[in-house]
Amino acid sequence: DIVDQIHRTAYHFQPPKHWINDPNAPMYYNGVYHLFYQYNPKGAVWGNIVWAHSVSTDLINWIPLKPAIVPSEPFDIKGCWSGSATVLPNNIPIILYTGLDSNETQLQNYAVPANISDPHLENWIKPANNPLVAPDHTVNRTAFRDPTTAWLGSDGWWRMLVGSKNKRRGIAHLYKSKDFMNWVKAKHPIHSRPDTGMWECPDFFPVPKSGENGLDVGITGRDVRHVLKVSLDLTRYEYYTIGRYYPEIDRYIPYDTLVDGWAGLRPDYGNFYASKSFFDPKTNRRILWGWANESDSRQDDVDKGWAGIQTIPRKVWLDPSGKQLRLWPVEEVEKLRKDPVLMENTAVELGQHVEVTGVTAAQCDVEVSFTIPSLEKAEPFDPEWVNAQDLCAPMGAKKQGGVGPFGLLTLASEDLEEATPVFFRVFKADTKYVVLMCSDASSSSLKEGLYKPSFAGFVNVDIEAEKRISLRSLIDHSVVESFGAGGKTCITSRVYPTKAVDGEAHLFVFNNGTEAVHVEKLSAWSMNRPLRMNN
Ligand code: FRU
Repeated sequence: DIVDQIHRTAYHFQPPKHWINDPNAPMYYNGVYHLFYQYNPKGAVWGNIVWAHSVSTDLINWIPLKPAIVPSEPFDIKGCWSGSATVLPNNIPIILYTGLDSNETQLQNYAVPANISDPHLENWIKPANNPLVAPDHTVNRTAFRDPTTAWLGSDGWWRMLVGSKNKRRGIAHLYKSKDFMNWVKAKHPIHSRPDTGMWECPDFFPVPKSGENGLDVGITGRDVRHVLKVSLDLTRYEYYTIGRYYPEIDRYIPYDTLVDGWAGLRPDYGNFYASKSFFDPKTNRRILWGWANESDSRQDDVDKGWAGIQTIPRKVWLDPSGKQLRLWPVEEVEKLRKDPVLMENTAVELGQHVEVTGVTAAQCDVEVSFTIPSLEKAEPFDPEWVNAQDLCAPMGAKKQGGVGPFGLLTLASEDLEEATPVFFRVFKADTKYVVLMCSDASSSSLKEGLYKPSFAGFVNVDIEAEKRISLRSLIDHSVVESFGAGGKTCITSRVYPTKAVDGEAHLFVFNNGTEAVHVEKLSAWSMNRPLRMNN
């Protein structure tokens, strides 16, 4: 394949070629991290889906193995779709996945390692008692997929969730089993919600009420909160709620102060889908992987020979407020940093853009904290502005404001004809300030026919008290993953510059608000390529 590789990422998870989508069954087992993922072995568009498999000891370098699960049996002959791993109490890992039979009915199957002492767990067996679960007459047989990691209740019952819908109601069905082999559907779903459509890739996990550690599934108790995340195929976004899980009644009840629906909290407000988390017992973290699809055209994917990346795995924990999650790139990615550059105490005035020199701007990690001397000039906030994303396009980086827009111009050409601005803008509402964060691809490329969305989310910070806000961006040729306010609001953009490529890419700090902002401290690092990235 002769492919144009200028947009290929350097340190994001990618196979050498072809299509990828959802991360599947991430787990840490006997010293090794495993990542499986939806993969088309025959081309750069979705189809012929198998479970590709890679292993790592550091979440950065990845060794490719042969696909672990491929269509072969009546219960998965039309596709091996997404699923999860569960490590049983006897330390045997089991994969639960969705198989499509010849009628394209979605079935929940399992697979086990052929040789448990193989450190890579290369070969997987599909036992003869598959499928474990077939849809009964109450379940939509073509909307019944993506089993979660199972957990064992103190009553001795295993539980797992399967994503579904009934007309427009999104559903997480609950299945229970005493022996992991015979599963019965619980009387009611663990949770459902009208008008949300199909719930793909549900993820259900506990988080401690305080601290940044993770918890293994199945942990409950007074100091534990639960998170239910779903991927909405209608909007192609994910949302989550935080709430309480009541095993005795088999219900999850989100806090009613949170929005439970398409306008709810998102793990990422950009190009990020089908995420899945796992508990890492090595470091006591919960780690979340998400898929960032291309936003170029199908033909571009075919031409470049690949499509889709996995975002950098993120540690996830409950914000001290209890009202949202925080997400932050796993610290292992910092191993790739080299040649640090520093900018300190630099005022950035209206209309100014200050270049960050000495860094490979197409392949870098940048962390900056801004201080804001005064909020007096903040523009008024209209209470009707409920959807952040509606604001980012009309109020882009080029539209002068009061406090902000200020932030980074990533993947910028020298003449600024191309750039992906990642920025904040502060508004004054009746009684408080509102902070908007945008990652705006609208001027990311001179090329036409690309999807160039202006992604945005609100940032839940008390900017009046803190007078500062931080931003981190992981920039990697065709992806910009940004983390506002220490991971309170995350936005991933896929972009395809024509001029701002490789050595021609630049990084700037900018301000287009009448109030000057200060770079308290900016650190940027050029990023090494992992030694092994599925090569
Ligand atoms: C989400 C999804 C899943 C399905 C898989 C198929 O992106 O549609 O619901 O299992 O992808 O590849």
